[in-house]
Amino acid sequence: MYEQRLKLLYSLLDQDHFDGAAFIPGATFTYLTGLHYHLDERPKVLLLGKGRRPVLILPEFEAGKLKENTLNIKSFTYGENPDQWPQVFQQACESTGLADKKYAIEPLQLRVRELRLLEEASPSTRFISASAQLDTMRMQKDDGEIAKMRKAAGIAQDAFLAMLANIRVGMTEKEVASELVAQLLKHGSDPNFPFLPIIASGPNAANPHANPGERRLTSGDLVVVDWGARYEGYCSDITRTLAVGEIAPELEMAAKIVAEANKAGKVAAKSGAVASAVDDAARHVIDEADYGQYFTHRTGHGLGMEVHEPPYMTGQNTMELKTGMTFTVEPGIYVPGKFGIRIEDNVVVREEGGECLTSLPRDLFRI
Ligand code: CO
Ligand code: CO
Repeated sequence: MYEQRLKLLYSLLDQDHFDGAAFIPGATFTYLTGLHYHLDERPKVLLLGKGRRPVLILPEFEAGKLKENTLNIKSFTYGENPDQWPQVFQQACESTGLADKKYAIEPLQLRVRELRLLEEASPSTRFISASAQLDTMRMQKDDGEIAKMRKAAGIAQDAFLAMLANIRVGMTEKEVASELVAQLLKHGSDPNFPFLPIIASGPNAANPHANPGERRLTSGDLVVVDWGARYEGYCSDITRTLAVGEIAPELEMAAKIVAEANKAGKVAAKSGAVASAVDDAARHVIDEADYGQYFTHRTGHGLGMEVHEPPYMTGQNTMELKTGMTFTVEPGIYVPGKFGIRIEDNVVVREEGGECLTSLPRDLFRI
């Protein structure tokens, strides 16, 4: 599988005459090699040159993991003295013939530390930001990846239902968040959650990215709950909205509009459609209900090994959707000082429209 992925990488790089690519630990690094390395202050760089044996620069004490890897990676290691770094980088760059080459880098990942070490070790190499080429690589998921995402969604949903049974009016947002975090772990999420849950009640919910605070759940509130699990490296990212006690008719109405917009966005997620069609479909429903000015963000984002990755469901994105692409559909209405509501599902593009990995009801959950 990893040999296939390297072939895909080189064919994408070929289109723009790159000779190879340099990665530090992160989603793409793991996608290409199956290796998991923690990113700390010590520089770790994977050099993938077309027609060359892969090279990995890393601390000596972490080289053991390479024994089980099937990609025949050649390692260049250093001890705990940072003074060794420049020399080890130089040896690695020479070994893989980096001089005068054009190498792709990920602008959101590679750090200044590694970039400077590479540039100093091989001054004639051009390291060029290549998100256009690299972004497409992980977008279409295979069946194995989708199975992991489905499991991540299932864990998150089970955790949410278990949390609902344990929360009450009067609890603070933080108390609700801690209950949800505990349930995510109990239900089998990897401990490195895609993000910590958002629990935003009453007027706080008008901020789409609110942090849980000390506000207590109060009768009449809508409460936005946005959370996700990770399973074998793949993320889910779900939002449901709770109604606490009796809520105003306007809030009931807004909830129906957002559920309708969520459905319209999912239906539009057909292969061959453009990404903006998903945004347009969801936004149209909210515009028609005269809440357009209160839907202040894009309709969704790609989801996979990272919680935000391409493709992005914006009104400007003309990218064609292809089978196996995975992303969120998450319209919302946010009225400052009053209330907020969002409903977020995780979708796989199929011929006939979006297949949903999430199955919790989209209605308000009553507590
Ligand atoms: Co979310
Ligand atoms: Co999201």
